[in-house]
Amino acid sequence: MTAIYYDSDARLEILKDKTMGIIGYGNQGRAQALNMRDSGLGNIIVGGIKDQYLELAAQEGFETASVEEASERADIIFLLIPDEVAPAVYQKSIHPRVRKGAALNFASGYNITFGFIVPEPTLDVIMVAPRMIGEGVRQCYLKGEVFPSFVAVEQDATGNAKQIALAIAKAIGSTRRGAIEVSFRQETLMDLMAEQATWPLIFSVLTEVFRFQVEQGIPEEAVLMELYVSKEPAVMLEKMADMGLFKQMPLHSHTSQYGQLSRFKEVDKAYIRAFLEKQFQNICSGRFASEWKKEQENGLGEFTRLMEEALASPISLAEERLRQRLK
Ligand code: NAI
Repeated sequence: MTAIYYDSDARLEILKDKTMGIIGYGNQGRAQALNMRDSGLGNIIVGGIKDQYLELAAQEGFETASVEEASERADIIFLLIPDEVAPAVYQKSIHPRVRKGAALNFASGYNITFGFIVPEPTLDVIMVAPRMIGEGVRQCYLKGEVFPSFVAVEQDATGNAKQIALAIAKAIGSTRRGAIEVSFRQETLMDLMAEQATWPLIFSVLTEVFRFQVEQGIPEEAVLMELYVSKEPAVMLEKMADMGLFKQMPLHSHTSQYGQLSRFKEVDKAYIRAFLEKQFQNICSGRFASEWKKEQENGLGEFTRLMEEALASPISLAEERLRQRLK
């Protein structure tokens, strides 16, 4: 059975005498640094380039330093900068300075899985990846609410890697509910499959339903409201998380329940399966990772074009018209 770790499995004491170097004070960096400080960990340095993020860290009472200095002084380095810039920052500023026996902590498995960052064998390489946006990590901590994390150990140079990962997970507040152990590769596959398969399929359903119903003469405002603007599906997703995918069904009318369950049977799953397999192959073979790397090197022209196309699509334009009319 997959291991799930709780507060009682982790000891904050092992972090008490360690210096934490938080590289990046954005979504995750800020939330994790503030949560760890509120958990009683005092030796935190925020390392970064001179920008508004580093300024905010200083305003919020953290000692700040360059990436190089923070990396040199830290026992645990938190690499909490965008995944696209992390390899270059690691190579230039962290790799030459990091101490033997230090731990390198990631919030995503991407760069390790695809070999864009190859840490020295003398380092612990761990991951505490909250399944929550940074703002949620902070707000949950403050309100005493729960959010989960994935924890992983890729390299255990000191023999303490897992205990350090679990202590970090506890310090940021994510062993309250349970931190699930995975590998870096598994975390990466799940993350990329959600982004490249699950959401594209959901976007396709939503845009096709919109197009079809508007073609049938139903007002676009009403279709959008029915689809997601009402936030009813958001509430349903919350109920699915709390009660279960199908166990939340009794919250719907009998007509709805029968319609959903009987027509679910009719959906052709073969296409979905083939799409999942194709994306999985692209991810596992590294084809997506090299395509995305090339796209960044080429100046993000295709990415910009795709975004412009999506924002100019009929559903996006209809949303704008609806928003202008809604109170
Ligand atoms: P972010 O985009 O909020 O990072 C901003 C920080 O990166 C700033 O401090 C900025 O100064 C620094 N930065 C940007 N370019 C830099 C450069 N060239 N050199 C040095 N510092 C630079 O990053 P975010 O969203 O917090 O992501 C950090 C990690 O957390 C990533 O691995 C991401 O996959 C992971 N993650 C993010 C989540 C989120 O809430 N966005 C959720 C779960 C994981």
